[in-house]
Amino acid sequence: MKRVLLFVMFSAVCFGQNAAVTKGLDIYNKTCGTGYCHGVGGTAGGAPRVAARGFDDAYVMQVVRLGIPHTGMPAFGTMERADLLAVVAYVDSLNGVTPPANPNLGAGPVRPKLSAEAQKGREYFADQVRGMTRCSVCHQADGLGFPVTLPLKTIPANLAELVQIKTPELETATAEGDTFPALALDKNGAQPKVYDLTTPPPVLRTFAKGSITFKADSAWKHADMLKPYSEQELELILVFLRAVSKP
Ligand code: HEC
Repeated sequence: MKRVLLFVMFSAVCFGQNAAVTKGLDIYNKTCGTGYCHGVGGTAGGAPRVAARGFDDAYVMQVVRLGIPHTGMPAFGTMERADLLAVVAYVDSLNGVTPPANPNLGAGPVRPKLSAEAQKGREYFADQVRGMTRCSVCHQADGLGFPVTLPLKTIPANLAELVQIKTPELETATAEGDTFPALALDKNGAQPKVYDLTTPPPVLRTFAKGSITFKADSAWKHADMLKPYSEQELELILVFLRAVSKP
């Protein structure tokens, strides 16, 4: 009896896995496998090869969910959960790995459910009515938002610290007779790329090599980005960021 049960469980897992890979292949072909991107079967197109790279499930999951900031790889973290698991299962299969039978989104322990306060903060973080200075226009957290900056690492301990945030990566760029606050993605490449932060949302601009110069520092003020929120709302956003940034 036990053996039959085990067999049934085993085939359910295997069948479930194959079904996920098949579904993932379909999603991959439509979303990731075009010639501009990773190519048929992960063999590379405009973007790198993803087959036989020795990736493990946790890595594939992380990159698909969060993207790779400052590259062409977008985040797909807002995809339907089943679709996300399926496409990751497919890329896993190209690397000879099987996803864990009980996957949670992302590597590591399952995140505990957000508190009511953190949940509220999550809504404010990406709140459309705050216009172009809602946090999610420039930051990504918990699968929400757009990664103009690198992932938030140091979450301010309190409101005062949030107000005084430093922006060490910002510079003042001069190009085409224009001077503007800039976050450089690729300063020294054949075609330097920067985010122009003059008015939110940041605009990605590409220049001819040698036609743009940079000066350290910028008069741009992060504090201005906080204006559409009340102090209490900002506190809740910090609660949210703390909840999702814990390892
Ligand atoms: C228009 C773009 C923009 C918006 C909107 C914005 N930020 Fe930022 N944020 C930045 C930039 C640029 C930096 C600095 C990046 C650097 O220099 O390292 C930054 C830095 C930060 C940092 C420090 C990151 C670290 O790891 O040290 C935190 C925390 C932060 N922002 C939180 C917020 C919150 C919360 C909101 C919403 C209330 C918000 N930001 C809205 C652009 C923005």
